[in-house]
Amino acid sequence: MNGISMTRRSFATRTVQAGLAAAALPSIAGELSARNPDKIRLGLVGCGSRGVGAVIDAILSAPNVEVVALADMFPDKIEAALKKLRSPQAGKNRDFAAQYGSLVVDWDRVDAVRVTPECCFAGFDAHRKILQSAADVIILASPPGFRPQHIRAAVDAGKHVFAEKPVAVDPVGIRSVIESAALAAQKKLGFMGGTQLRFSQPYGEILKRIHDGQAGEIVSAECYWWHDYFVRWHAEARKSEWSDMEFQLRCWPHFVWLSGDHIVENLVHNIDVMNWAMGGPPKSAVAHGGHSNWDDWPVKGNVFDHFYVEYEYPNGVKAHASSRHGLNCSHRLGERIVCSRGVADPNGRILGEKAYDYPGPFDNPRFIQWRAFLESIRKGAPLNFGRQVAEATMTAILGRMSAYTGRAINYDWALNRSQLDLSPKTQEFGPLPVEPLAVPGRTTLV
Ligand SMILES: NC(=O)c1ccc[n+]([C@@H]2O[C@H](COP(=O)([O-])OP(=O)(O)OC[C@H]3O[C@@H](n4cnc5c(N)ncnc54)[C@H](O)[C@@H]3O)[C@@H](O)[C@H]2O)c1
Repeated sequence: MNGISMTRRSFATRTVQAGLAAAALPSIAGELSARNPDKIRLGLVGCGSRGVGAVIDAILSAPNVEVVALADMFPDKIEAALKKLRSPQAGKNRDFAAQYGSLVVDWDRVDAVRVTPECCFAGFDAHRKILQSAADVIILASPPGFRPQHIRAAVDAGKHVFAEKPVAVDPVGIRSVIESAALAAQKKLGFMGGTQLRFSQPYGEILKRIHDGQAGEIVSAECYWWHDYFVRWHAEARKSEWSDMEFQLRCWPHFVWLSGDHIVENLVHNIDVMNWAMGGPPKSAVAHGGHSNWDDWPVKGNVFDHFYVEYEYPNGVKAHASSRHGLNCSHRLGERIVCSRGVADPNGRILGEKAYDYPGPFDNPRFIQWRAFLESIRKGAPLNFGRQVAEATMTAILGRMSAYTGRAINYDWALNRSQLDLSPKTQEFGPLPVEPLAVPGRTTLV
C-alpha cells in the first residue's frame, strides 16, 4: 500500500465514520458552481502543518474542491494529516475558521476528503507517484530544498501548482523554477506561490497608494523578522534508529540544504513586499550575519541565528532586511516603506502629508489567494505567479549568500552565473555529513 502502514479496512472505516469536514462560502459558492460545476481535485505533497492548512484553505475558499491524494516522505506524517483533515473540527477550530473574518463558513456542507489508500504515497519518489492520481492541482509543501524538482515534475505532468514559499534554496534551483514557471505558462497551467501577502487587502491598498505616488517617491525601505520560534521549529529529539538523512528531514529548518536558513524560509515574505514596492528585485546585496548562541537551539544544524542585508535597487534606493531568531529577545515583524512625503506600514497605515488608515476588512490573505487561484483555473486563465515568488526567493538567497561569504554580490550574477547547488549527491536514507557553519570572509562564493 504505497509504503503506508495502514490497513485498507481501518482506512475505509475511518473514512466512513469521519463525516469529513469541508466548507463552502455562500457568498461565492452559488456564483462559482453556477458558472462551472466541475470539481477541482487537490493532491498534497508534504503532509505537515502548512500542507494540511493549505488543503483546508483551498476547500474553504470555493465550492467543489476536494483532496484526493497525499504524498509525504514518511507514512506517519500521512496518517497524522489524514487524522487532522478528517476531524470534524478541522474547519471549525481557531486556527482555521476564525481567520476567515466576515466570511460565513458552512463547514458541514461538503465531504471534501476523498483520499483512498491507493492514493497515499511515501518515500523519495512520492511526489512523482502522486502525479498518477486524479489531482488537478498539486500543493507542494515539503521542505523547500525539494521544491524545484517537485515543481518541475508537477508541471511536466500537466498539473496546476501551488508551491509554498520559499520555492528554492539556491540559484540552481531558482533557475529551474523560473523555467518551470515559463513552461507552466506555455501549457496554460496555474502557478501560485505561498507569498500570500500579495493577496492581503491592507497590503494591496497601501501598495496601490505608494505606486500612485500618494506618499511621494520611495527613498528607503526596511523589513524585519525578529522572533524566536525558529530556534525550536521542527526540532525533534534524534531517535537512535534515524539515519543522518532522516534526522535532517525531520528537523529540516535547521539544515541549509533543506530550508535555505531563516532569511530564506521566513523573511522571504517581507522581502517580497519590498520587491513589490520597488517594482522588482534589487541589483545587489551586501550582508552580514552569524550564529552567536547555540545553547538554546536543540538541533545544532548549520543555520545562522541573525542576518542583516542592505539591498540596492536599480534606481539607487537602498533597503534593509534583518532576520533574527533567539529566545528572550524582542520580536519585530513587518515592513516600513519610507517615502519623500510619508512613511508606510504596508499592513494598513500611511503617516505623513496624506495620512491614511486602512479601515478593513482584514480577511485571511491565504483564503483570498486560493479563491483567486481556483477561480482563475475555472475560468481557463490560470494565474501564474511563478516569476514573482522565484524573484522573492532569489532576493532572500542573495542576502544569505552575501552574509555567508561576507561578499557584496550582484543579483544578476547570482541568478544567472552562480553554480551554488546545495542538494545532496544522492537522495536516500543513510549517512549525510552536515556542511560546516558558514564563516564570512572564508566561505567561498560559488
Ligand atoms: N505561506 C506561509 O505563511 C507558510 C507558513 C508555514 C509554512 N510555510 C511553508 O510550508 C513548507 C512546509 O512547512 P511546514 O511547517 O508545514 O513543515 P512540516 O515539517 O510540518 O511539513 C513538511 C512535510 O514534508 C515532508 N517531506 C519531507 N521531505 C519530503 C519529500 N521529499 N517529499 C514529500 N514530503 C516530504 C515531511 O515529512 C513533512 O511532513 C515550508 O516551505 C514553509 O516555509 C509557509
